[in-house]
Amino acid sequence: MSKSKVLFILTGSIAAYKACAVISRLVQDGCEVQTVASPSALKFIGAATLEGLTGKKTGVDLWEEGRAMDHIQLSRWADYGIVCPASANTCAVTAAGLAGDLVGAILLAWPKDKPLHFFPAMNVEMYNNAVTQENLAKLSTRGFTVHPTGDGSLACGETGAGRLLEPEQILETLKTKKFGSMLITAGPTREPIDGIRFLSNVSTGQTAASLADQFSVIGWDVTYLHGVGAKLPARAARIIPFGSFAELDEELRRELGGNDYGAVVHAAAVSDYSIASVNGAPADADHKLNSAGELSLGLKANHKILPRLKEYSRSKKIKVIGFKLTLNQDPSETTRIAQGLLGENIDAVVANDWSMVAQDRRHHPGVLLKHGSEQPFADLSTLAKSIQILLYPGGK
Ligand SMILES: Cc1cc2nc3c(=O)[nH]c(=O)nc-3n(C[C@H](O)[C@H](O)[C@H](O)COP(=O)(O)O)c2cc1C
Repeated sequence: MSKSKVLFILTGSIAAYKACAVISRLVQDGCEVQTVASPSALKFIGAATLEGLTGKKTGVDLWEEGRAMDHIQLSRWADYGIVCPASANTCAVTAAGLAGDLVGAILLAWPKDKPLHFFPAMNVEMYNNAVTQENLAKLSTRGFTVHPTGDGSLACGETGAGRLLEPEQILETLKTKKFGSMLITAGPTREPIDGIRFLSNVSTGQTAASLADQFSVIGWDVTYLHGVGAKLPARAARIIPFGSFAELDEELRRELGGNDYGAVVHAAAVSDYSIASVNGAPADADHKLNSAGELSLGLKANHKILPRLKEYSRSKKIKVIGFKLTLNQDPSETTRIAQGLLGENIDAVVANDWSMVAQDRRHHPGVLLKHGSEQPFADLSTLAKSIQILLYPGGK
């Protein structure tokens, strides 16, 4: 599970004790968890339990001194939110847009592109009641994820739907991301000359790491395939290293061929050449060359990976996004060069020039080129949003 910031909202259900097991596991998995509990939730479990599990004070009161803006700030801080257990009352309050207490105000102020999961828990009649079902449908329409309940014996002695999912099922569900799987490649390749030396490039992986974090946060299951020394994202689900062009190519064939990826963002800086010969003989990665005298390297051209990514992929519906970096070119020239890459097997190309990319990546101008349109961006968060629109034009 990614190391996310989680806002965990507990409401008044007898199943609140199960939520404590979920919170405990999220914390053990490295997530930063902030809890908010409705006054009813605190009739079932103590604030001390929640604070003990998370190391953070539980939010309860909209009017608490010194925390007056928690109802706005907590949702902005969080990567995603969980309402667990979600009582029938809180589902109704949220569906109606009421903001009379801390829980209601947080949920009404929830940003619409941030994931929010509801795990309902209630008596079977409450759950099956048409009003509750309408409320749950409204929450789904608003873009929140409403998870099913379990079926079985309920605390009230009745049997049926409405039982809170078990902690393991909740954790498993949270791992299944909303948008599917995305593969992001990052950083430089290294072409070995001998066991010590290599040919490489200036790529740092900063752009790819920023995109990986942003896509993880909004609900992609991100696998990050990175060159040696590339910056690593804080939140990707899986991180796989590569060294040379050949290793990257092989890893891409394996990953894309063996899994159903929805998108591949190919931001790695791939060497156009590999070492064919060193002083007339094949490169030998087990030894160090004698440093005296001249060194003669033979280079062989590598094939272009980007146009092959669809062919490597098990899922033919995969969207392929490439990068084209130029140096000291006019923006219109950079765009023209990148335009040449767009093709049947490439859905979009990010055109950018090294001279325009600030070291901290806060300013990272460029253009996202799609078939039939161009979208300029000034920073990586705008770029991530434009790519997301390409992948899910109607949102989700
Ligand atoms: C013992 C007991 C158990 C309850 N269990 C549930 C429950 O599982 N689900 C539910 O929706 N309401 C349950 N309720 C009712 C809620 O706690 C009540 O509707 C409350 O107002 C919910 O407030 P909240 O949504 O602000 O937390 C229970 C009440 C009691 C007294």
